[in-house]
Amino acid sequence: MSTDPIGVPTPGRVRPRRLRATPAVRRLVREVDVHPRQLVLPVFVREGLDEPRAIASMPGVVQHTLDSLRGAVAQAAAARLGGVMVFAVPRVRDAVGSQATAPEGILNRALTVAAQEAGDALVVQADLCLDEFTDHGHCGVLTPDGRVDNDATLVRYAEMALAQAAAGAHLVGLSGMMDGQVAAVRDALDAAGYDEVAVLAYAAKYASAFYGPFRDAVESQLVGDRRTYQMDPANRREAAREVAIDIAEGADVVMVKPAMAYLDVLADVAATSSVPVAAYAVSGEYAMIEAAAAAGWIERERAIRESVLSIRRAGADHVLTYHATELAGWLAEEYR
Ligand code: PBG
Repeated sequence: MSTDPIGVPTPGRVRPRRLRATPAVRRLVREVDVHPRQLVLPVFVREGLDEPRAIASMPGVVQHTLDSLRGAVAQAAAARLGGVMVFAVPRVRDAVGSQATAPEGILNRALTVAAQEAGDALVVQADLCLDEFTDHGHCGVLTPDGRVDNDATLVRYAEMALAQAAAGAHLVGLSGMMDGQVAAVRDALDAAGYDEVAVLAYAAKYASAFYGPFRDAVESQLVGDRRTYQMDPANRREAAREVAIDIAEGADVVMVKPAMAYLDVLADVAATSSVPVAAYAVSGEYAMIEAAAAAGWIERERAIRESVLSIRRAGADHVLTYHATELAGWLAEEYR
């Protein structure tokens, strides 16, 4: 083969474009795919609504009633998604997040509805965190001087896991970033006989501006930030440490969150994890695509497909995305 003066093969024989020349050859050599089973739809339920309510910063996403949740879960199952992740907004909040553990609390009721509707078709996942339930908006309970009390929070998380398992959750998603949370929840589940309920650890969850619209979706009461428990966006190596700890504590799945701005972290985790790896395309990622598409600045469908494909390419086994059901519909055409 001929080469140029610095050794790079010259065109003529070496032509990567040959494998891009037709749709058929491009299809043959694609390295990754997105399949509906790899998509998980996050859903919001709000206590006390008569009808679904739009979320202004997430056009197309709503706060569901228990009734409309049923419909969304049925659609997710029909689209052959991998699962749904349930979040809920209670009417009453207090210092310890009592409604998170009340059997009749809105999240637990929503989980029962979702599990009934899903049957064996979907993995019903529960957000396990206190921020929607506390009047101060933090992910844990506070010490008298206002700090997030790690170990007192673990007690609440263990209680919450039991309430969610009793409600019918197949998997609990620990999003609070407390130290020791996976072990605390695993021990509590096992002691109560819920050894088949899986634990997904938000292992590398960063203190991110991209959660902005989510705070709207759950009407967050937070003043301040979560930097004493969520990770610093500057830290890549630290993610490996968090993942190793969570796997050692018994996590069944580890997650990286957000997704698009953290694909380097995701690739690292995917390369070393011994358990499946999830990534969460968060509310701000959704909002950016929707806003730019609404302005006519990007092609909506292509941008959605490319973003999820990129998250898969970086190594996610499955992806939480608010676009899950719609995207699965487009993919179904391809797999026919
Ligand atoms: C905490 C939680 C958050 C999100 C998922 N779980 C908010 C936060 O950590 O502040 C964000 C999800 C999103 O932005 O889509 N319960």
